[in-house]
Amino acid sequence: MTDSIRVHGGVPLRGEITVRGAKNFVSKAMVAALLGSTPSTLRNVPDIRDVKVVSELLRLHGAGVDYSVDSGEIRLDTTTLQSADALQIATHAGSSRIPILLCGPLLHRLGEAVIPDLGGCRIGDRPINFHLEILQKFGAEVEQGGDGLHLTAPNGLTGIAHTLSYPSVGATEQLLLTAVLAKGITTLDNAAVEPEIKDLIDTLQKMGAIISVDTDRSITIEGVKELRGYDHTALADRIEVGSWASAALATRGDITIHGAQQRTMGMFLNVFRKVGGEFDVQQDGIRFWHPGGDLNAIPLQTDVHPGFMTDWQQPLVVALTQAKGLSIVHETVYENRFGFTDALVAMGAEVQLYRECLGDKKCRFGQRNFRHSAVISGPTPLHAADIEVPDLRGGFSHLIAALAAQGTSTVSGIGIIDRGYEAFRHKLTALGAAVE
Ligand code: EPU
Repeated sequence: MTDSIRVHGGVPLRGEITVRGAKNFVSKAMVAALLGSTPSTLRNVPDIRDVKVVSELLRLHGAGVDYSVDSGEIRLDTTTLQSADALQIATHAGSSRIPILLCGPLLHRLGEAVIPDLGGCRIGDRPINFHLEILQKFGAEVEQGGDGLHLTAPNGLTGIAHTLSYPSVGATEQLLLTAVLAKGITTLDNAAVEPEIKDLIDTLQKMGAIISVDTDRSITIEGVKELRGYDHTALADRIEVGSWASAALATRGDITIHGAQQRTMGMFLNVFRKVGGEFDVQQDGIRFWHPGGDLNAIPLQTDVHPGFMTDWQQPLVVALTQAKGLSIVHETVYENRFGFTDALVAMGAEVQLYRECLGDKKCRFGQRNFRHSAVISGPTPLHAADIEVPDLRGGFSHLIAALAAQGTSTVSGIGIIDRGYEAFRHKLTALGAAVE
C-alpha cells in the first residue's frame, strides 16, 4: 500500500458510512482486560493501528488475542500472563501513548512492568509526569532504563488520595486502572470525565470494581481483591464522527454516519448548528449536511469534557476557512495544535496564529510563547497543494482540505491516519471522493 493519496478536489462528499468503537476507549478497555482473571470480550472494535499495537503488547505478555475484523469482536484471554522480554517491548517505542497505561495492571498481575518509550501525535510536549507521580504514590518504584521504563512494586500497591493539577484523560485512566485492585480506598479530585472514561468505568464495574463519580468531577474507588473478565460493546468514536461531519461541511456535502451517538456529540452538534450545518439524529446514526448558502464564522474554545473537545478542533477549522467572517479559535488543551494550519495557508486559507489567549477560558498557555489561538478569515477558496501529514487529526484535516480544494492535491504520509480512522480510503470512495 502506498503512503500517499492523490485527491481531485471540489467534489462534495455524499453517502453513508459506518463508524465503530472509539480508538480512545477501545485501546484502554483492552488494557483493562489484563486486570481480569477470566477472559474478556470487547465488541464494536475498529480495525485501526492502535488496536494492533495494543494487541501485540498484550501478546508479548502471554495474553491470547483473537480479533475478527468483520464482527468487530476481540477476545482477550489474560489467564496466562507472563513478563515480556524488554527488547521486544522496546520495538514498540514511539508507536503509541497507550503502553504507559499497562503499568498498574502489569504491576498487579506480574509484580513488574517494562514500558517502551512513548509515541503519539506531536501536538505539544505531552509529558508523563502525572502518570509517574500517581504510580509512585501507589507504591511503584520507577527506573528509566535504556530500553524504556522499568517498574516494580516491592510492597504492593495501596490506595491514595490524589488531586490532578489538570484533568488529564490519561492520568485519570492510569489512576482507575491501578486503584481498582489496590489495597483500600483511592480518591481523585479534578478528574477527567470524558465519555470514553465513563465507558472504561462501566467496563471496570462489569469486572467487579467499585467506582463512584461525583458531580464535582471527583472519583472514589474501593479496591477489591480480584476482577473477572468483561463483555462490553465500545461506545462510538465521536472524534471520527466529528471529522467526517466536518468533511461534509467543508465539501458542501451530505454524509450519514451510522453508529454515531448523539449522547457523546452534544457540544459538537451545537457548534455544527451555529456554523450553519444541518444534522438529523436518526435511529442508528446522524446525518450531517451543508444546506447551501454561507456558513457562519464563530468564536470557539476547546476544553475538557463537557466542553468542545480538542480533537474536533482541527477538522472543524478546515470548514471554518469556508465560513463568512472572522472565526476565533482558542485551543486550551494542547499548546501546539495549530501546526497543521500552515498547509491550509499554503492552499489559500487566511489563518493568523496568536500567542495570546483569544477567549476567556482558563488556559495554561497564555504569556508562554505558544501560538495556541487562531483567527480564521473566510471564505477563501482553497487550491490544490502537495501536503505532508503532520499527525493523526491534523492529517485527516489536510485530507478534508484537499477534498474541498479545486484541483489535484497529493497528501503524503497518510499511514498515520490509519492509527485512528478505520478504512478511511474505502469510506472516501464510498462517499464519491475522486481519490487515487
Ligand atoms: N499532561 C501533562 N502531564 C501528563 C499528562 C498530560 O502535562 O502526565 C497534559 C498534556 O500535555 C496536555 C493535557 O495534559 O496538555 C491533556 O492531556 P491528556 O492526558 O488529557 O491527554 P492524553 O490522555 O495523552 C487523550 C487522547 C487524545 C486527546 C486527549 C484529550 C488517547 C490515546 N489520547 O490523550 O487523543 O486529545 O486525551 O482529550 O486517549 C487523538 O486521538 O488524536 C488524541 C490526541
